[in-house]
Amino acid sequence: MNQLINFDEKNKVFHLHNNQISYLLSIEDGNTLAHLYFGKAIREYHGGLRYPRLDRGFSGNLPGSLDRTFSKDSLPQEYSCAGEMDFRTPATIVRQKDGSNATFLTYESYKIVQGKPNLEGLPHSWVKNKEEAATLIITLKDKYGDLKFDLLYTIYRDRPVIVRSVKVRNTGKDTLNLEKVSSMQMDFVDRNFDMITLPGAHAHERHMQRTRVNQGIHVYSSIRGTSSHQMNPFVALVDKDTTEFAGDAYGFAFVYSGNHKFEIEKDPYSQTRVVIGINDYNFNWELQAKDSFQTPEVIMAYSDNGLNKMSQAFHSLIHDRIIRSKYKDQVRPILVNNWEATYFDFTEEKLKPIVDDAKDMGIEMFVLDDGWFGHRDDDNSSLGDWAVFKKKFPNGLDHFADYVHQQGLKFGLWFEPEMISVDSNLYKKHPDYLMHVPGRKPSPARNQYVLDLGREEVRNNIFEQMKKILDSGKIDYIKWDMNRHLSDVYEADLPANRQGEVYHRYVLGLYDLLEKIVDRYPDLLIEGCSGGGGRFDAGMAYYNPQIWASDDSDAIDRLSIQYGTSLVYPQSMMTSHVSVSPNEQNGRITPFKTRGIVAMCGDLGYELDLTKMNEKDRQSVKEQVKEYKKIRKVTQYGTFYRLKNAQTSNQCAWETVSRDKNEVVLSVVKVMASAQPDFTKPKLVGLDPNKPYEDQASHKVYGGDELMNLGIYDPIEHGDFKAYMYHFKAVK
Ligand code: DGJ
Repeated sequence: MNQLINFDEKNKVFHLHNNQISYLLSIEDGNTLAHLYFGKAIREYHGGLRYPRLDRGFSGNLPGSLDRTFSKDSLPQEYSCAGEMDFRTPATIVRQKDGSNATFLTYESYKIVQGKPNLEGLPHSWVKNKEEAATLIITLKDKYGDLKFDLLYTIYRDRPVIVRSVKVRNTGKDTLNLEKVSSMQMDFVDRNFDMITLPGAHAHERHMQRTRVNQGIHVYSSIRGTSSHQMNPFVALVDKDTTEFAGDAYGFAFVYSGNHKFEIEKDPYSQTRVVIGINDYNFNWELQAKDSFQTPEVIMAYSDNGLNKMSQAFHSLIHDRIIRSKYKDQVRPILVNNWEATYFDFTEEKLKPIVDDAKDMGIEMFVLDDGWFGHRDDDNSSLGDWAVFKKKFPNGLDHFADYVHQQGLKFGLWFEPEMISVDSNLYKKHPDYLMHVPGRKPSPARNQYVLDLGREEVRNNIFEQMKKILDSGKIDYIKWDMNRHLSDVYEADLPANRQGEVYHRYVLGLYDLLEKIVDRYPDLLIEGCSGGGGRFDAGMAYYNPQIWASDDSDAIDRLSIQYGTSLVYPQSMMTSHVSVSPNEQNGRITPFKTRGIVAMCGDLGYELDLTKMNEKDRQSVKEQVKEYKKIRKVTQYGTFYRLKNAQTSNQCAWETVSRDKNEVVLSVVKVMASAQPDFTKPKLVGLDPNKPYEDQASHKVYGGDELMNLGIYDPIEHGDFKAYMYHFKAVK
């Protein structure tokens, strides 16, 4: 079997490579670990990237060296620190016992291991067997101290992806303080990048943004305690002329659900540095003697063929090697959720007709959303009291779950395990569980507060409560929600000098709780949610194979949200529901068909009162459900292509092709109508040019080459927001 990692002892160069990518790094003067290259594969490296020597003013040199032409300030480095003479953004800052931030990292040793080590307590990409990947571990040491940094690089045999993380070890006798420990750094030379990010807001997540990387430091981050609606933990660097189908694209996705920071710096010599990791805002980790600290991972994907290829690399890694759920390859159930149907105003008797209608329409799961527990009639109470609200379910939850099951549907239940209401039994018994700074009044958001999840006792309490519900065996799915961000950040169990650990400990606590649930209930399908897509990240994918993409269910707004989401995350991970028109969030009126077509691009569900629909729409649901059952294997697990972007044009078009290229689903949405419309014709991609494909609706047959080279005209129709979906099958 081919080696994935080689070390050239003579020239001191490491080469990580597979058929698609190469990653090169070398050991330079003063044992400095330098970055050489990341990109398209080369067979062998012959030294063409030797760092050019130049005496640059105010870029100093190695201690003890009189060579003025070698400077850490301009050398492309692999992992830089504060305290050495590199004035660019450091990857790490360590507060030493003497109070200084002096650190000087030098290469010490390396190790190559087959496969990939697990990251204890953190979500991570994994391997099926040791042959599919190899990991290079390079140890850097602080030349004048007792601190070591293990830089981990995993390369998979068949993916254009490298996964990186860092483990810091205190090998001395004194306690040190980590003020910043990034998961990776990469320095690019002679590149003029654009940068693509996914900023947003609640009900407006992941809107693709593209800007130039100019000199200075660009920061994309979250200090909200979660990965956030506001800034998804992802950045891509692309060439100026990179498109969906051409050009270089480097994508970086952080496998973490808490505070993050992406720093992109273009230095005075037009070199671009990327540093990614846990945000150093209010971060200060006490690293005691002999202790270690493991950072979360970053997935780096490279494409020489534009953004679609980059996204496909992420989709396939996240789906194949981050998601673990037994549902990862199973078609996802079509559900109806009662949130937008009833909000808090429901009882068992009121819900039963919705369940009956769902059965009649072929829907496969009923999800009972917020309001079934404590005495919750609105969003002012009961978070933390995970016992059934008897007023709404006088015969208990099991009774209703049985009813749902008797109708042949699965039963799903909403939880918000990380939260506490002041009006709750949990607060009465344990007011200290509410995260707050002693002596200060904490800030409410949605009139609720965050639990001090870093504490084991708090986690155990919630786990025991959830256990009582889940042990009945009657719950098939849970929706794990989180409806506010962290403030008043403080952990009651920690001393004053360790409060800088709280943000990260919260996330570790959350992962611990999720792991316990996943471990005890392997048959449970868990959907992540944080007020919609506020925690839509690769870290959550490790526990939740699907996530509610946004609280904005309007089909036209969803075009941009789902387009942006698809940059990184696979279709099977993105849940998307048909809701009422006019839409509850923005009042837009859209055709039922369009709402269905947009929702079918993710995991389809319905978020409306089925009992209140007119006959025509009821019929439409039945047809959509029937149609979706035919295509979902393809749309959830096929190769996804973005063809047209509604953020920059009047149309959105996307396509999914089954892995064997025998089935294709093409969806097109025209946003605004015009009296003189342009004729438009999407061209398909990724088909077998030699196969004939039959349109399942019209039974017309086209060659794969025809569909790809000629395209097909969109119908001309009156009215805004029209959508079309085609399902082609290869003719045997
Ligand atoms: C926010 C979620 O995104 C909604 O779908 C719904 O579950 C509400 N929370 C319930 O409070």
